[in-house]
Amino acid sequence: MGLEVNAVYLSYVVHVLAVAGSVMVLVWNIHFRGGLAWESTNKNLIFNVHPVLMLIGLIIMGGEAIVSYKALPFKKAEKKLIHLILHAIALVLGIIGIYMAFKNHNESGIANLYSLHSWLGIGIIVLYGVQWVYGFLVFFYPGGTGDLRKESLPWHVLFGMFVYILAVANSALGFLEKLTFLESSGIAKYGSEAFLVNFTAIVAVLYGTFVLLTALSRAPAEDNHSYSAI
Ligand code: HEM
Repeated sequence: MGLEVNAVYLSYVVHVLAVAGSVMVLVWNIHFRGGLAWESTNKNLIFNVHPVLMLIGLIIMGGEAIVSYKALPFKKAEKKLIHLILHAIALVLGIIGIYMAFKNHNESGIANLYSLHSWLGIGIIVLYGVQWVYGFLVFFYPGGTGDLRKESLPWHVLFGMFVYILAVANSALGFLEKLTFLESSGIAKYGSEAFLVNFTAIVAVLYGTFVLLTALSRAPAEDNHSYSAI
């Protein structure tokens, strides 16, 4: 399946939304929520690292990793390296982001893993890790046989898109959950912070949409087989 649209043009929309989403999540957590901290007596500052790293790390770096394979004007081997490095960064930032949510809970005496968001979150990070390791072993080092690569590729693309869609949807659940907590402890339902959080989630969903559209669109003319002959 392929869209008859040039991937490069769609990838520009992806980059613009990446900048918008990153700025919005930082403004929310630094300006409205008081800042970010690894260690602090104010445990909320430790939590704030979670949405920042999940959005900028897992979702945005992960999305850039996906579009890099399709839209960058480099040779296949170079794009493959960029693809796997960006995904590794996304995965590591995602793991640190989840660790910060646990750290906040543990240091504040809050139970762990009680929500749908957290259960899906664990599933997503495990699947993302499995996908990365399998991709590394089969397509990069030591590398599978030609047949194994050929058979694995459509599954790699399909499974990668599935995990990515789940991650974007789960980040929307996370924004909803946090805003619901904040509204029950007093922030205005139609206030500027509430609008900022909801619009950040909308930008995340739009970002994910354009990442997938780019992945399904036409690669630049000189390299029309990015997804068919790794
Ligand atoms: C795909 C991205 C995300 C993943 C994989 C993820 C994963 C997780 C996990 C595993 C926990 C459980 C921590 C614990 O039990 O100690 C958690 C907690 C939490 N996350 Fe996320 N998260 C993501 C994005 C977000 C975003 C963008 C927000 C926005 C604020 C958010 C808000 C929360 C909240 C409020 C909690 C604490 C309550 C709870 O455990 O459900 N998350 N997250």
